[in-house]
Amino acid sequence: MITAICPGSFDPITLGHLNIIRRASRTFDEVVVCILNNASKNTTMFTVEERLDMISRSVARFPNVRVDYYSGLLAEYALNFDHGVIVKGLRAASDFEYEFQMDLVNKRINKRLETLFIPSSEKYTFLSSSVVREMSKYGADLTGLVPNEIITDIEKKAELWRNSNGK
Ligand code: PNS
Repeated sequence: MITAICPGSFDPITLGHLNIIRRASRTFDEVVVCILNNASKNTTMFTVEERLDMISRSVARFPNVRVDYYSGLLAEYALNFDHGVIVKGLRAASDFEYEFQMDLVNKRINKRLETLFIPSSEKYTFLSSSVVREMSKYGADLTGLVPNEIITDIEKKAELWRNSNGK
């Protein structure tokens, strides 16, 4: 059984992420969406528990997709699976440079670990969690950017942010 591991910080999950997860779920036996820590991102808008809950609700309709969190290295996490491959979406050539470096780092730890890329759907090439965070903080409409199931969660969190920043 081949397991696709879709890693990310998912702060929050977007429709771009969900598109990749859905396409991976059609291609692989099972998909594990794994929240990991990104060392270059010091703070997150959502706690790990909130992100686990938001992703779980977003992928509930996909029977072979589950959600997990790991606080260590992705290449170590992948050792939990008999045949795990990392699956990532690629939006642009600029994504590739970073992902290529990550693959080489991951292979130093786990040399049989492969990373496969799924090209982003054209309509989501502009989309990222940081775009969603920014737009939400200014009260923009998030329809079409994130799963409908989590729009209210993001709006509530953004309202807390606005109140605590006097906006
Ligand atoms: O959604 P992101 O923030 O681009 O995802 C990046 C992530 C979380 C997948 C990456 O930072 C990661 O793999 N973090 C776990 C720690 C790790 O293995 N780092 C790579 C080797 S330094």
